[in-house]
Amino acid sequence: MRSMGVAGAGKSRAVKREITVRVDGIPRRLSIDTRMTLLDALRERLGVTSPKKGCDHGQCGACTVLSGGRRVLSCLTLAVTQDGAEVVTAEGLTAEAATPDGRHAGRDLHPVQRAFIDCDALQCGYCTPGQVVSAVGALDEFEKGWPSAVTKGLGAPRLDRAEVAERMSGNLCRCAAYVNIVTAVQQAAGAAAAQRTAETEVAG
Ligand code: FES
Ligand code: FES
Repeated sequence: MRSMGVAGAGKSRAVKREITVRVDGIPRRLSIDTRMTLLDALRERLGVTSPKKGCDHGQCGACTVLSGGRRVLSCLTLAVTQDGAEVVTAEGLTAEAATPDGRHAGRDLHPVQRAFIDCDALQCGYCTPGQVVSAVGALDEFEKGWPSAVTKGLGAPRLDRAEVAERMSGNLCRCAAYVNIVTAVQQAAGAAAAQRTAETEVAG
């Protein structure tokens, strides 16, 4: 058996891979070290800086993005696993808005982004992009009827404050804006329900 010797021990060679990932609706092609995280690929290679590096250890939620519609911590996700994926950050939640004559009229905030502003659900704002993306994912999970650790019984969960707090518990806020964050998520859920009711009435 060959010994590695002290000089060779612990050395590892970089392995590169080509990936294509859609980020906020735009296909991006990258050659990356397979050890690179999605967070570093977004921030350092693609200039998408809304996902924040808070802890880099999966504990704060500041780096939350949607991948295939599901919440993921981009600091714990290897970029190479996102080949072919659809990634959405807080920047990508806004929609292009048009005037009645079809001209570009800027961008419309997502209802969750609007609710965070309306409810004053932030202070320094560092955690906010992750909070907003996480809330979008959490509300989708709620709409699908997925239970949380505090859901009572087997019926459809109710989005009371305890439910929101539990579903958002992976996102920390050092400014402790939690009271208004919970209110904002509830407001966004109410706006989404009203929108669905209006669409149903129009369709009917
Ligand atoms: S930076 Fe990813 S969880 Fe904190
Ligand atoms: S608003 Fe400052 S960390 Fe959340």
